[in-house]
Amino acid sequence: MFDLLIKNGNVVTPAGTRRMQVAVLDGKIHALEAELTGPARKTIDAAGKLVFPGFIDAHTHMGIPIMNTFSVDDFESGSVAAACGGVTTIVDFTVQEPGQSLHESVATRLEKAGGKCHVDYALHVNVTDQAEARLPEIPQLIEDGFRAFKVFSTYRQAGMMVTWAQFRQVLQTVDAHGGLLCLHAEDNDLVEQETARHISSGDLAAIFHPRSRTAEAEARAIARAAEIARELDAALYIVHLSSRAGLEAALEARARGSKLFLETCPQYLVLTEECYLRKDGHLWITTPPLRREEDVEALWQALADGSIDVVATDHCPFTVAQKDAGGGVFHQTPNGLPGVETLFPLLYTFGVAQGRISLSRLVQVLAGNPARIFGLSPHKGGISKGLDADLVIWDPEQTVEIKAEQLHGKADWSPYSGLTVSGRVDYTILRGQVLVEEGRFRGESVVGQLLRAQKGEQR
Ligand code: URP
Ligand code: ZN
Ligand code: ZN
Repeated sequence: MFDLLIKNGNVVTPAGTRRMQVAVLDGKIHALEAELTGPARKTIDAAGKLVFPGFIDAHTHMGIPIMNTFSVDDFESGSVAAACGGVTTIVDFTVQEPGQSLHESVATRLEKAGGKCHVDYALHVNVTDQAEARLPEIPQLIEDGFRAFKVFSTYRQAGMMVTWAQFRQVLQTVDAHGGLLCLHAEDNDLVEQETARHISSGDLAAIFHPRSRTAEAEARAIARAAEIARELDAALYIVHLSSRAGLEAALEARARGSKLFLETCPQYLVLTEECYLRKDGHLWITTPPLRREEDVEALWQALADGSIDVVATDHCPFTVAQKDAGGGVFHQTPNGLPGVETLFPLLYTFGVAQGRISLSRLVQVLAGNPARIFGLSPHKGGISKGLDADLVIWDPEQTVEIKAEQLHGKADWSPYSGLTVSGRVDYTILRGQVLVEEGRFRGESVVGQLLRAQKGEQR
């Protein structure tokens, strides 16, 4: 007797899409066959639907401090939103308070997620304070299953930046012990110079956000970091790539031998800096900023040809009131956008339905690649026998307009309101348990578990 049988769906894997029956037992995919009959405790007829692996959002920030406030989703609300969008695993980031050890920062974050998170979760470890003093902690954290670390080459005034010398030390240590370093790449000198220039001219409107945090700043930081990575022969993961210049810097570095993983986000694939010209344009302030149409096209191209490895959201939502508290001034508005619930619907609509990427690419960048890169692949990232039964059933016949009030996070607006997506998440299933049924969240008890990563680089 199976626990669950999903019948007649079109199952999407990197190898292609085929009509298959999926049987689930004890939270795992037990069988995957062209023909299978029950009995099963629960049967879902997925005829005419697409069956995807549960998606992984490898970049979220639940309840983090930014500019005297906190991103508004906690692990509870953010994970309900995730499940409703077909995301069954999130990878969030620790917050290292000044003076805090990395181990303490992990413990604090685990405390916040434990018993609250409806989807499975892993953690990347931020190194923002006293990097040199924290190096000895890194090997044990990797041993404990926290293998990805993150540093920022900017946010000096917020006390989060590492110097390039510190970057080199952290990268060397993380890589030597089988971990992976992630980088928020912006050249801080250029950002501070351009920000100061605009402030002193009284140019404070939202459009001066992209004018201050330029594509050139992204490209410079990527080039510098990639060169250090090449010298150390260490892999490096670039988060939220936003621009054509940044992409070109990364591709040039790869051609010279740097081992780079590249991540971009839906906001850089679907929106442009035109949003900042709206009356309420400050709502869209996120870092790096939204860019131009030519950047959007370059990122899609790189996604299609395999140059970009992962799409994740950088989910970091604020309410309108939180955003407004900055008075519309670009550098005083808390930066970040909601995104976890719209990640897959947007990538399907603007990628697959509009012919820019294949279904196979979609499951690679939203499931297979993040699972492999972050050491989750023994259990996550695909639909095959023995993997966790994390599954999403998508009805491509529906068309749904995105409305903030119908999303499940705590933000009272969405950057994507008014866009129409080509389908609906009918079911989200986590380790065989139904979290979303016929489009409605059903998670009665909290079942999300902490995931510990496997060591070793997996290109
Ligand atoms: O503006 C953003 N993206 N806020 C979250 C922090 C970060 O830089 O990823
Ligand atoms: Zn960032
Ligand atoms: Zn982020």
